[in-house]
Amino acid sequence: MSTVEQALAVNSAQRDDRQIDQEFLAEVTNGLSTIQKTLPCKYFYDEKGSQLFEAICETSEYYVTRTECSIYKQYASEMATIIGEKALLLEPGAGSVKKIGMLLEKLVNPVGFVPMDISQEILQESSEILSQQFPHMSIDPIVIDFLNKEQIHKIFSTLPVQPLVNKRVIFFPGSTIGNFDPEDATIFLKQFADNLHVGDGLLIGVDLVKDISILEAAYDDKKGVTAEFNKNLLDRIDNELNATFSAGSFSHRALFNQDKSRIEMHLVSDEEQTVCLNGNRFSFRQHETIHTENSYKYTLDSFSLLAKKAGFQLEKVWTDDKSLFSVYYFTVV
Ligand code: AVI
Repeated sequence: MSTVEQALAVNSAQRDDRQIDQEFLAEVTNGLSTIQKTLPCKYFYDEKGSQLFEAICETSEYYVTRTECSIYKQYASEMATIIGEKALLLEPGAGSVKKIGMLLEKLVNPVGFVPMDISQEILQESSEILSQQFPHMSIDPIVIDFLNKEQIHKIFSTLPVQPLVNKRVIFFPGSTIGNFDPEDATIFLKQFADNLHVGDGLLIGVDLVKDISILEAAYDDKKGVTAEFNKNLLDRIDNELNATFSAGSFSHRALFNQDKSRIEMHLVSDEEQTVCLNGNRFSFRQHETIHTENSYKYTLDSFSLLAKKAGFQLEKVWTDDKSLFSVYYFTVV
């Protein structure tokens, strides 16, 4: 390499180093360094991943979103009655405008809605849509990492109290809680319970245990959208962390682990291969897998028990007529 080429290479390495998200790099490096290789599922959602997730929700096999929406459609009035007047709704994560809309429509004199997300752009987009739908409602988006304990405490300690607000209610739909291990899910919900007042609420959507064939098909649709979603994680790592994965040499696998009551998604290496990531080399045996996601499935009892451990008492649960999905209303005790 000539001196000029060397200088250019150093320059571009420095530029790349500065542009790389170091936390992302560290998490991927750690995940690929364990015996069962793993990758954190939170990184699925770059722009393409978010679009693919929306496409998953439209597949005939992924009953989750459709079924949850049907529960709000049928029971939102009942939910609104049990929540009562002058509630302040808070939603951690930029959820679907459609779901919160169905609920806000039925609430009696709600004080307002506080969507919370790490992405300002997503928050702004959903807040604008909701402001048009509910022009008289106060909608106050907050940019926050809702997994950060200190940030949650800070925000919650400034929320309005009686007589302005009767109740604060956290809305956490989509069975996002299923992507946490049960222990982490309990810690996550407890952090909310600790920052709410007695009588405040949690309205949460949770996917239920069911026939394995329904579950596995939902995470391995015939059109291959979920497979693309899973493999997009490797493309993202290649693009953002200068890695040399070739997503085409991995296959998507979804299986229900009955002992752990969870769907597991894996990427299976089709051949023996080596991948470079920021100066490290990771070898794969043929058929070795990277575990990319868990999606826990609960029974009505097992989820109520988890929420109880976090400080919540069950008030009411709604399901669809096939008992595919559940929506719970808990209060803080
Ligand atoms: C976002 N989350 C609740 C989805 C789930 O069902 O666990 C993510 C997903 N992964 C594959 N399909 C959908």
